[in-house]
This record gives sequence, structure tokens and C-alpha cells, in this order.
Amino acid sequence: MNSQTESAIDVYRARRERVLAALKLAGGGVAIVPTAPEVMRNRDTDYPYRHDSYFYYLTGFAEPEATLVLDASAEEGEPSSILFCREKNAERETWEGFRFGPEGARDAFSFDAAFAIDSIDEHMPRFIADSPALHYALGTSAELDAKVRGWLSAVRAQSRSGIEAPSKAQNLLPLLDEMRLVKDAHEIAIMRRAGSISAVAHRRAMQACRPGLHEYELEAELLYTFRRHGAQAPAYGSIVATGANACVLHYPAGNAIIQEHDLILIDAACELDGYASDITRTFPASGRFTPAQRELYDIVLAAQSAAVDATRAGVSFDAPHQAALRVLSQGLLDTGIVDKNKFATADDVIAQRAYSRFYMHRTGHWIGMDVHDAGDYRDHEGPLDDQGARPWRTLKPGMALTIEPGLYVRPADDVPERFWNTGIRIEDDAIVTATGCELITREVPVDASEIEALMRASR
Ligand code: GLY
Ligand code: MN
Ligand code: MN
Repeated sequence: MNSQTESAIDVYRARRERVLAALKLAGGGVAIVPTAPEVMRNRDTDYPYRHDSYFYYLTGFAEPEATLVLDASAEEGEPSSILFCREKNAERETWEGFRFGPEGARDAFSFDAAFAIDSIDEHMPRFIADSPALHYALGTSAELDAKVRGWLSAVRAQSRSGIEAPSKAQNLLPLLDEMRLVKDAHEIAIMRRAGSISAVAHRRAMQACRPGLHEYELEAELLYTFRRHGAQAPAYGSIVATGANACVLHYPAGNAIIQEHDLILIDAACELDGYASDITRTFPASGRFTPAQRELYDIVLAAQSAAVDATRAGVSFDAPHQAALRVLSQGLLDTGIVDKNKFATADDVIAQRAYSRFYMHRTGHWIGMDVHDAGDYRDHEGPLDDQGARPWRTLKPGMALTIEPGLYVRPADDVPERFWNTGIRIEDDAIVTATGCELITREVPVDASEIEALMRASR
């Protein structure tokens, strides 16, 4: 991730310029965006390092201990795009590997200036002196809040020389969230590749599956495939759930042994070059769905198809969810999982939320650098409804979201026994287009017969 091509560097520089232009329009000021801290796992061992998504979005720079400063009040000829990063250090580089150092990073990543991170407390008072405002992620990091307080104190200490400290602090994140919400061509290209790698991993897990294996053995097939194709990490903890475990929404791959008549739910995907993918597939351990499994599976698949058909520019973010809910609710009535004597129509099931015992999550979320990506789901300018909520926002080309309906049926006296302990989810990642959406994770099948055919081919 440290070697960015020249055109990628232009992409990051253009994003910084967009932020600077927006801040200038808003009256100027200085934006401060630190990357993520390194976190210790246990003695002498850190968690694998992951940069901060906002920082990376504006820099493409993946080293720890770095901060971006954007000075929207800089005079002509003064630097406005400044990086603080680790200095070169021959000894540390022997242990930990290459560091760009400020000069190297400035040239390779096209900043106006770069300084050692150790000198940030000397430089920042100068950058923020006489600036009208600070823009940063207010109140999200005690460390950043303390640093800002220190820099402000240093400026205020010079007030007798006529230097003024910024009088306003503003949250920078809404501006960055709006930018991140609509993906550009550079991002979509990476997300397509991430989606393909994750799809290959799901195919491999389906083909490796045999009754008698442990859940963790299928997880190993997934993780192997992510790395084998160059993805840096899983985008989130892999869910590999056999049988009843599939009804636990955040079940991590565990020690359970796969039984002949189990369905297996895998929700796992890779992160590639800073971008997440997110795929769920559900398939039969034996390679053949039982009639009851197939009945429920086809309802979830029909719900997903309806949600996919409802995903396009100009509709509400909620439209795919409502489309999925309608199909799932009708399916719950048709199968007798929801009692027809109590709820006459799918509208009744929806109005009284009778589906929520079996479908307790929404149909999608934004996806991008973070698996649950940045960006508001509501239009904050819109009118409040009678429950005090703002309207859902409208989908635009380039927005990326998951489409992931499911059904989870636990044992209960009022539910037909043939469906007990069945958990099904089908999840794909979609890029919104003017007329519909592009599914970027469909290199692994969703159709039940195609899944069976794929599994048969490996037996
Ligand atoms: N894998 C996380 C999610 O589906 O939201
Ligand atoms: Mn998801
Ligand atoms: Mn998922």
C-alpha cells in the first residue's frame, strides 16, 4: 500500500484540493487529520496496523504516526497541504522496514511540505496562529483533543504580540463523509477487485466443504484465498456458522463440526488496498438443499432480487429494504412461519413488525473504506416525520451499499418444526448507477441450483 502509482497520487491530491476549496468557501481555517494509533496486543506485539480511513482517503499514506494538515488560510506561495510523519531512522528501519521520512513522503505523495511528527508541537502553533477556525474530528480522540488544547494554549500565550488563536472549532467529518459516500473511478476499481477476491474465496469454501469439517477449517480456506490474491486482511471478523449457529447474527467461526444436513452461513470478505468487501452465502453441507431449506432459501433470494431491482439512482436508501421486507413477509405467511390467522396480508406482517422475530436487521449499509462505511443515511435538511425522523437520503450514482436480506428461524412452538434452527442470509455489494446497480460480488453464485452444481463439481 505504500507504493502508489502516479495517477493514484493525483487522486489523493485532488481530494485534498476539494477539502481546501470547501474550507475556503466556509471562511478558511486549518484542518487536522491524524492517522490511527498503533495498538498493543500483548507484550512486544501490536495488532496488525491499520491506517485511519479518513487520513488514508486524503493521503494514500499508510505509515503509522502521521498527521495531515490542510491550511485553507495559507497565503499564496505558503504550503497548504502538509504532512507530519516519522523521520528516517536507519536502526528502526532495520527492525521494522522502510519509512519514507518527511522529504521522501513529500515528494512521493505530492505534499507542499512535510515535517517530522516529533516536531508537530513546534509547528502547529505557527499554522493555527491568526487562523479563523480549526476543523477536525471534535471529541473523537482524547489524544487529539489534548494536542489541540496544547497548540491553542501555545498560540494564546502570544496574544500580547497581537497573535490571535482560532475562535471556532468545527467538525471536519461531515464534509469528508459526504465525499466518501460517492465513490470515484479509482475507488470503484479497487472495490471491484476486492469483490472478486472475496467471491473466489466463497467459491473455494463451498467446494472445500464436507460434513465432518470444523467451521474454522472453512475459515482457513477463506483467509488463505484473501492473502493468496493479495488482499491485506479480512475486512471484518469472518462468520462461518453451521446449523443453528447461523441464527446468531455475529457468530465468529468456531469449533463446531459440520453435520450432513446443516446449512452453512458464511459472511466473510477481504480488505484490499484500504477498501472492504462484504459477502454472505448460505449453502448445504451435503451439496443438496433439503426441501425445507430450499423453500426458505428461495424466499430470501427472491427478497434479494427485489431489493436489487429497487436499487438505483433517485430512489430512497430505504427502497431496497422495503422491497425485501415485502417478499420476506409474504414468504413468512406462505410457509406458515407467521400465522395466517393472525396476519392476513404481507402489509399486516409489515405494519405490526411480525417479521422482526425472523428478520431483525436492515437490508444494507454503505460500504467503502470501512465495511460499515462513512456517510449519513438520513437527509438532515429534510422535514421531520411524525416520529421525529428525517427522510432517508436519495441514492446517487457512485454510492456503494450492501444488499443482504436474511431469515433466522429459531425453535418455537408456533413455528413449523421443519424450519427450526435455519439461518439464511444472501449478501452482495452494489454500486449505484443511473439506471440500476452493478453487483460487484457475483462471481460466486446465489441461485440454489447453481450453488449445488458448483459443489457437485468438487466432489
Ligand atoms: N459483515 C458485516 C455485515 O454484513 O454488515
Ligand atoms: Mn454487510
Ligand atoms: Mn456481511
